[in-house]
Amino acid sequence: MMSVHSHPKLCPSSPTSVTDLSQLLDACLENSLPRPALHVETLAEAASILRLNDLGSYTVPSRGLYPYQWNWDAALTAMGWAALDESRAFEELKALFSAQWEDGMVPHIVFHRACHTYFPGPEIWGTPEAPRGTTGITQPPVAVIAVRHIVENSMRKGRALEEARGLFGNLLRSHRWFYAARDPFNSGSVATLHPWESGMDNSAAWDKAMANVPVDDIPPYTRRDLGHVDASMRPQQAEYDRYLTLLYRFRELNYDPNQLYHVSPFRVTDLCTNSVLQRANYDLRWLAEELGFLESIPEIDNWLEKGHAAFEKLWDSSAGIFRSWDQITDQPLDAATSAGFLPLFARAATTEQAEKLVETLEKWMDNVNFGVPSLDPEEARFEPLRYWRGPVWVIVNYMIVDGLRHYGYDSLAERIETDTCDLVNTRGIHEYYDPITGAGAGGSHFSWTAAMCLAWLDKIPANSA
Ligand code: GLC
Repeated sequence: MMSVHSHPKLCPSSPTSVTDLSQLLDACLENSLPRPALHVETLAEAASILRLNDLGSYTVPSRGLYPYQWNWDAALTAMGWAALDESRAFEELKALFSAQWEDGMVPHIVFHRACHTYFPGPEIWGTPEAPRGTTGITQPPVAVIAVRHIVENSMRKGRALEEARGLFGNLLRSHRWFYAARDPFNSGSVATLHPWESGMDNSAAWDKAMANVPVDDIPPYTRRDLGHVDASMRPQQAEYDRYLTLLYRFRELNYDPNQLYHVSPFRVTDLCTNSVLQRANYDLRWLAEELGFLESIPEIDNWLEKGHAAFEKLWDSSAGIFRSWDQITDQPLDAATSAGFLPLFARAATTEQAEKLVETLEKWMDNVNFGVPSLDPEEARFEPLRYWRGPVWVIVNYMIVDGLRHYGYDSLAERIETDTCDLVNTRGIHEYYDPITGAGAGGSHFSWTAAMCLAWLDKIPANSA
């Protein structure tokens, strides 16, 4: 039987429907066990969204708007699946890794089957060596973090570890790819060559770097995203022209990683990718120990050591936040974004930096009704509804809260958990939320937000949220 709740601190049960969930709540009350802050209806909705978006072995982020399998969505969604059906969670990851390139890259989108509601699709990417249709770029490597989460929360740890064993080689190769292809000079930070790789597509952090990307004479195209979501919530046309310019330039070079790094007019040290990779290295090390792959530990330790040191350059002590870096101009990027807090998730901040980050984050939270906004609300470019230029993203809240708890900032973590539970409980499960009004926006019935309800928010007792 499937289990929605696996957290020992909350009521043990195996609910699969709203009725089961109501019974669960009654049982909690009767036994005076902590009651989840997440409404039972929200939890049931989250489960039904994963099923709605399930296309067999993979889950689409949102039907219509994002009809294929996305890299970091798949990993985060697997964490949600694990609460319902652990084998399905591993199936999600296996479907993603079935498209891993020979050189180790895990592509940002896997085009498992044709769909005409998305642009740019496989015919535009025209990737050469993929075992199946994919894009030719990557996304933040969340997969290892998801595998550790699933194993640690599993009620059948032995079996979960066996599944993890089957994936370990793919995971290790994907990290090796990052260092070989994206850090050829061994700086400790890996480069991001396209805003889509950062997962935070139109972040204000990319404005300066994107201004240096010329717009080539690209074939005319029709955006499909605007058919699903209002233009006021999406990246602007000037950004799209540059996204496609980069794509066509990479395609021209057959996505050869040795050339891309050197010729891309957009090359940044993205805080999100580097924080996720650094954290994933800790989790990969943990997995290597659990599985007895001890021979890979020195290599991982080396990544951890040089990765840790590389964060220092990204710290802006006067602003009390980390900043992404433009590798082409060798300058910090100007916008303070929610990715600036992710070195907490990476365990890469010093205790003094963590203290400063908390002060900055509290200031941001005081300027909005629901945290965490994706851009500093005092910034002139702050737009509460435009994608990564202001809205709250539940997956980012998850990573920030994890980091805050690690550094011992429990009350700020609880404040963010309360906001996040309020958003999903009262506004439903959306792609992202307006930090001022709380309105749900972007795509609806969104998989990774649903997954975060099942993997994270369901574990928060009501009295703390
Ligand atoms: C958008 C987001 C990206 C996500 C994708 C699918 O492109 O910016 O992070 O992976 O949608 O949800």
